[in-house]
Amino acid sequence: MPPFTATLLRWYEQHGRSLPWRADSNPYAIWLSEIILQQTRIEQGLPYWERFMQRFPSVEALAAATEDDVLRLWQGLGYYSRARNLHAAARQVVSEGGFPQTYEGLRSLKGVGDYTAAAIGSFAFNLPVAAVDGNAYRVLARHFGIDTPINTTHGKRLFAELAQSLLPERQAADFNQAMMDFGATWCTPSSPQCASCPFVETCEALHSKRVAELPVKLRKTKIKTRHLSYIYIMCKGEIAIRRRPSGDIWQGLWEVPVVEEGRSVLTSSGIYPTECAILLKKGVHHVLTHRILIADFYLLELPERLPLPDEYVWIPESAFDDYAKPRLMELLLETLSTYRKGNSL
Ligand code: ADE
Repeated sequence: MPPFTATLLRWYEQHGRSLPWRADSNPYAIWLSEIILQQTRIEQGLPYWERFMQRFPSVEALAAATEDDVLRLWQGLGYYSRARNLHAAARQVVSEGGFPQTYEGLRSLKGVGDYTAAAIGSFAFNLPVAAVDGNAYRVLARHFGIDTPINTTHGKRLFAELAQSLLPERQAADFNQAMMDFGATWCTPSSPQCASCPFVETCEALHSKRVAELPVKLRKTKIKTRHLSYIYIMCKGEIAIRRRPSGDIWQGLWEVPVVEEGRSVLTSSGIYPTECAILLKKGVHHVLTHRILIADFYLLELPERLPLPDEYVWIPESAFDDYAKPRLMELLLETLSTYRKGNSL
């Protein structure tokens, strides 16, 4: 048995939590607890698990319930797709004559992913599969000093294989429970108990002072594309600008009137449709950290001022230099300058 595993199991004997679904290997009780605990802390989930076990003591009872009944009992837990999947999976189990007893069979149940299938498989059927949850990622990343991001395909595979290589064939349930408990109570995210840690001699992160940095998680924000039409409106040597409001990119910076696809800043006041303006440049790509902006630049010269929405002000064209502007505004000014040189304006 690897030294890591031996130490972890010894710790678990002393410090493991006693939780009601660990009392026996009833797959229904275990499955129910795992679905409830997917996005819920134990203290919050425990009373729900008790209520479900009382009201629906078996998978058959749950399958016979209406979806509304299940949703009502779930109320307050959030992520209601879990409750709908729970109900659908119960019917799946009953129609198949009982709980599947293989990892793949469990994995095929609605709402059961890699982690949950491994947890149920090991706790209920002693299948030798490592259940890698957030706790396991943290414990392993720290103990073995791994800075591979945990939310990448490569990282997931690496951690899954490492956990599997540490798993004792005949004590899969204890190992998985131990990892969860150790991560949840000792090797916690922000205030781990390193001073009294059983791995004080072997923890790589502790030795290299990287406990707070591990595990590494890549920030994955959805990249959004936004289309903007900027209209440089001139009238008697003055231009219209506004300060960007809060709650969006470039808060507090200044820009010329903009019409955004789907938002229509200017058209809400019913003025300055871009058709009346000269198109200076189309499809300028500007890339920010989590956004791709595609901008069109227009020039509109007016003989007389027209009313603008409240947030806009008129300033002398030459004064715009002194205002803080996003890079895209500078690109517009460069485009305008090139256009004017070409047209000797
Ligand atoms: N969180 C999810 N499943 C758990 C389990 N079986 N024990 C402790 N915490 C958990």
